[in-house]
Amino acid sequence: MKMKYESERPLYLDSSQPIDRRIEDLLARMTLEEKIGQMCQYSGITGEYERMIREGRIGSLLNVVGVDETNRVQRIAVEESRLGIPLIFGLDVLHGYKTIFPIPLGLASTWDPDAVREAASIAAAEASAEGIHWTFAPMVDIARDPRWGRIAEGAGEDPYLGSVMARAYVEGYQGKSLSEPDTIVACPKHYVAYGGAEGGRDYNTVDISERTLREIYLPPFRAAVKAGAKTVMSAFNDLNGVPSSANPYTLRTILRGEWGFDGFVVSDWNAIGELIVHGVAGDIYEAAEKALMAGVDMDMQGDVYNRALLRLVKEGRIPEESINEAVRRILRVKFMLGLFERPYVEAERAKRIVKCKEHLEAALKIARKSIVLLKNEGNLLPLSKHIDSIAVIGPLADDREAPLGPWSCLGDPRDVITVLEGIKSKVSPRTRVLYAKGCDVEGSSRDGFDEAISAAKESRVAVVVVGESRDMSGEAACRAHLDLPGVQEDLLKAVYATGTPIVMVMMNGRPLSISWPAEHIPAILETWFLGIQAGRAIADVIFGDYNPGGKLPVTFPRTVGQVPIYYNHKNTGRPPAPNIKWTSKYLDIPYTPLFPFGHGLSYARFEYSGLEISPLEVWRGDVVRVRFKVKNVGDCEGDEVAQLYVRDVVASVTRPVKELKGFRRVTLKPGEEETIEFTLTLEDISFLNYEMRRIVEPGEFKVMVGSSSEDIRLTGSFIVKEYVELPLWG
Ligand code: GLC
Repeated sequence: MKMKYESERPLYLDSSQPIDRRIEDLLARMTLEEKIGQMCQYSGITGEYERMIREGRIGSLLNVVGVDETNRVQRIAVEESRLGIPLIFGLDVLHGYKTIFPIPLGLASTWDPDAVREAASIAAAEASAEGIHWTFAPMVDIARDPRWGRIAEGAGEDPYLGSVMARAYVEGYQGKSLSEPDTIVACPKHYVAYGGAEGGRDYNTVDISERTLREIYLPPFRAAVKAGAKTVMSAFNDLNGVPSSANPYTLRTILRGEWGFDGFVVSDWNAIGELIVHGVAGDIYEAAEKALMAGVDMDMQGDVYNRALLRLVKEGRIPEESINEAVRRILRVKFMLGLFERPYVEAERAKRIVKCKEHLEAALKIARKSIVLLKNEGNLLPLSKHIDSIAVIGPLADDREAPLGPWSCLGDPRDVITVLEGIKSKVSPRTRVLYAKGCDVEGSSRDGFDEAISAAKESRVAVVVVGESRDMSGEAACRAHLDLPGVQEDLLKAVYATGTPIVMVMMNGRPLSISWPAEHIPAILETWFLGIQAGRAIADVIFGDYNPGGKLPVTFPRTVGQVPIYYNHKNTGRPPAPNIKWTSKYLDIPYTPLFPFGHGLSYARFEYSGLEISPLEVWRGDVVRVRFKVKNVGDCEGDEVAQLYVRDVVASVTRPVKELKGFRRVTLKPGEEETIEFTLTLEDISFLNYEMRRIVEPGEFKVMVGSSSEDIRLTGSFIVKEYVELPLWG
């Protein structure tokens, strides 16, 4: 039943009015049931949900997609409910909408925030064109445990790299203003420390120190909020005994108190209802009360707010003002999006935008940048396009699904270019391309080995594409082992035994403990899941049309027994020393990683020189400039990601042996040299002392510049001359 308009349009529908006035005008017109309705989100659409929408008892839907369907459902809200409040449609647009980019771990491997921003911006343009207003992304959980399948969804193990990427995603999704039609609301998730799950087991307990919470897990969320993210998703996990979706310390004290976050918080899927399962709520009323009073504004798919809040208010257990506070935040985002003015989308516009030529080209460009050359012994790569025969082997060599990776939104496997297709379209007409699947990703069958062996024997080179299927990472996809699944390593060994040189192409959503391949296979490409242009990008790299420049955003362990293993570790009192028994290491494997954080090779070679640090004595207010040169001394153009690490040598609490504090991806022609300059403020080198206050203490700071966290090319140091206390957050 449509609200009878007064003689003139109600103020909340007048877009010339300030948003806050529109909110208050609308709020004053809403019944308590309608207010609670704005705080309820459901997945999909049913007859029951349509009825609830007409009654103003749903504020948001997720997983409703397509121009026709979103318009149809939106019409119910706008034209058939009393106040006509538009729905906000949410969707997991993590690495593309229909033009699918590399998974976020692959995007992080570009070490190029501009590329990430561009991918997010394209995803926003496509999603908004088809009626989506809000993405549950970026996932900014720091992950130090590759057993955790969701490591695939984020930017890896480092808070600095993770923060730079978090900002780039938010800027890409939200653009300059959410009132622009091709933007969508960002939602950094999963707040907070979800990646710290014990055992790398999804949804498991997180118990970490306050310092680890604040120095490792919070910074990317801080960066996303600082970049203007207008929603945050609260996580499933309990954090130090208090579930993140009922945690006033993280949600109010930090998120709103320390950071001034003014958007709204949505719970993860039924995370409010799961407070009962956590054992911190006896029923839906306690769950609703805890979540709302902690600061969760919207209930995703839990149906808890819908069933419990009215009674809680009527019984006086929660003040209606708490409801008003949440509804104001939700309405503010809807007004900022311009939903009241533009509730519908046009099919014509969507047709022009979705999967347009420019987007597909960007997907190829970014996929290329995501590829990491882990090994290239004897410069086996790049291959000649005129090679007379090449075997393309492996369960993922011609697989259309895997390259989409987990959370591939509306990606269509029919759009995917496989590795086999990419290679076939690249080589000369006279090149014999022999394909053999060899085996499945999982399973023990070796029936396909003979065909693979024959193909390898008849070929100059064998490209073997191995790894994980796309559902072996992402949510609820944890692995206790990190080896290549199934008999894939045996397939590699069988092909290796033919003597034909192998180029190993990996498709995976996490670091894998590929010790045998790393020792025996001459060339290895880490491609993650590269999206719809996977085959083209990989073929471009294999045949040298693109020189790989990606770097690892996560450490590769030799075996799962090393986990957790990460580069920014503490020194301990007995750092590992191979020849001294009484030091921190293992008896049965080397203590070093298989491939370190920041590692990635190139077909070119880069030399670093001329490190200058100024000033060498640093006082309050100083900015330290670190300048050096990088030169391409190879014979082809290439990208290098120069990395800056810093170590606080002596401090009042133990500090990491190195911390990433700057990076730059540069493209250099053969012989070309570029001067790179990083600046370090005192905030950049500050830390939380014993009392959890942000400070910089006098003393020496080591500066390390290099091509990876282990491949340090230049070192120097500067001295801080005085004790400086800083604001908790910059
Ligand atoms: C899931 C995920 C979250 C996602 C949400 C909606 O359970 O944890 O990342 O955004 O549900 O699909």
